Amino acid sequence: MITIQIDDDLLLRQLSESDSAPLFAVIDSNRKFLRDWLPWLDTSKSLQDTAYFIRTALEQFSNNDGFAAGIWYKNSVVGTIGFHKVDWLNRSVEIGYWLAAEYQGKGIVTKACKAFLDHAFGEWHLHRVQIRCAVGNARSCRIPERLGFVKEGLQRHAEFLYDRYVDLIIYGMLEDEWKQKRLLIKD
Ligand SMILES: CC(C)(COP(=O)(O)OP(=O)(O)OC[C@H]1O[C@@H](n2cnc3c(N)ncnc32)[C@H](O)[C@@H]1OP(=O)(O)O)[C@@H](O)C(=O)NCCC(=O)NCCS
Repeated sequence: MITIQIDDDLLLRQLSESDSAPLFAVIDSNRKFLRDWLPWLDTSKSLQDTAYFIRTALEQFSNNDGFAAGIWYKNSVVGTIGFHKVDWLNRSVEIGYWLAAEYQGKGIVTKACKAFLDHAFGEWHLHRVQIRCAVGNARSCRIPERLGFVKEGLQRHAEFLYDRYVDLIIYGMLEDEWKQKRLLIKD
């Protein structure tokens, strides 16, 4: 079970099935907000759907392919951050995240991404970490930008959001760049 204590208030902990109910409650009460930029809200409508997501993430972990963590703020689960399937051949991975609306703007996801970068480069010795954000999702784009990711390009119509395709901006961070940049980032 991976646990990363970031500060007194903020904890990342790998999701387990017992988290299904509180996590589903956060998803359900933020459904409208999250639906603006995330494509999976209409296939995540019940407690069973959240339990299934967690089981899939646990299977991913047992296959050494990455994992999903809950974001706990002051002992409540308020979002998730996860590694997509690790590309071990190319030593590369992508990070995805979301947070409940009322906890935005406290730097929570920036701190969580920083911890995930440390894990990817420090524990797994990967070479590259990627984050993709939709054009127009300024708040999400600020996270890789603030952490010093390089804006590498644009994937046209890479994500279908219910009724439209959106373009995704690709942000990349390499192992050596993170070694330099993390020293400059304040906690
Ligand atoms: C995107 C999201 C994860 C941000 O989480 P957060 O913890 O509030 O992010 P942080 O506080 O670490 O950083 C947000 C940055 O955006 C900035 N910001 C806040 N509101 C903004 C806005 N409306 N427009 C542009 N930038 C904004 C903040 O000032 C901060 O930048 P700074 O560090 O330079 O000040 C959260 O809003 C969310 O879950 N949104 C819905 C789902 C989503 O978009 N997921 C990501 C898909 S790629």
